[in-house]
Amino acid sequence: MKKLLFQFDTDTMPSVFDTVVAYDAGVDHVIAYGGLTPDTIKPQVEGCIFTRAPKDKKNTAIFVGGSQMSSGELLFNSIQQQFFANFRVSIMLDSNGSNTTAAAGVAKLTCSDSLKNKNAVVLAGTGPVGQRAAAMLAQEGAHVAITSRSFDKAQKACQAINNRFNVTVSPIEAPDNIARAKAIAQTHIIFAAGAANIQLLEEAHWKDNPNLELIADANASPPIGIGGTDMMDRGINRHGKIIWGGIGFGTLKLALHKACINQLFESNNQVLDAEEIFRLAKSMA
Ligand SMILES: NC(=O)c1ccc[n+]([C@@H]2O[C@H](COP(=O)([O-])OP(=O)(O)OC[C@H]3O[C@@H](n4cnc5c(N)ncnc54)[C@H](OP(=O)(O)O)[C@@H]3O)[C@@H](O)[C@H]2O)c1
Repeated sequence: MKKLLFQFDTDTMPSVFDTVVAYDAGVDHVIAYGGLTPDTIKPQVEGCIFTRAPKDKKNTAIFVGGSQMSSGELLFNSIQQQFFANFRVSIMLDSNGSNTTAAAGVAKLTCSDSLKNKNAVVLAGTGPVGQRAAAMLAQEGAHVAITSRSFDKAQKACQAINNRFNVTVSPIEAPDNIARAKAIAQTHIIFAAGAANIQLLEEAHWKDNPNLELIADANASPPIGIGGTDMMDRGINRHGKIIWGGIGFGTLKLALHKACINQLFESNNQVLDAEEIFRLAKSMA
């Protein structure tokens, strides 16, 4: 029986990245739909849950993606509300690589040191990757803040993270590199989650910071987020700080993404979101 992955994307154009990784993970056929919302998803879910016999349902799975975390969460939840009894298939949420990227980056940080009671700042943490990284750092016991160019946007993202994960992440307005340098003055850990090609800090802003111990930068499209680091950095020491670059931990991210896709086809009741994906990342890091 063919393994079918239905890639339900909240953006108009489904993510090519997610399609390629699904095939590379060994799925037989990936069927991608874009522009999906809770109002339009019903027939697609019915097609997934009513078609195959109970013992065969594990060969159908759903992947929810798209560039907006809040839209992805809404779609992910509304799909599961349609499941009942054994009329269900396995499902994964990874809007913009949020869960797999954040989980891989934070898991690598946990390999270097315990994060408990450390101060952590997620720079430009309002996007999908930053929101999930903030939640995972907080769940490891760090005191977490996220920056944004807009205080309102930072506050809204914190509310979403805190409501979803029952943690306390704080907002910081930091419109430019100087403000972000101030935001990291007392921090031990930086997770840079800015948009591709955007530098968030120059080397001079962090290299002499005596408190700083660990840096992860998700941005792997030059210019990268943290000046004076390299996207290939794999836990190397620069100025006394351990650095993980976007490709440095991206290898784990890709392996994790594929492992999650494979896990979806182990049974028809897998639900892979931040907690499960972070647990798997730590076991693979
Ligand atoms: N390494 C990997 O394996 C991997 C995998 C997936 C994604 N990524 C990378 O991870 C990063 C985060 O992804 P994402 O999808 O969460 O990012 P995103 O939503 O595109 O952007 C994150 C945040 O960047 C800030 N930003 C945008 N333009 C900016 C500018 N000109 N100056 C300062 N800040 C700006 C915005 O925050 P405010 O508007 O709130 O300031 C935005 O919410 C990206 O660089 C992405 O390419 C890496």
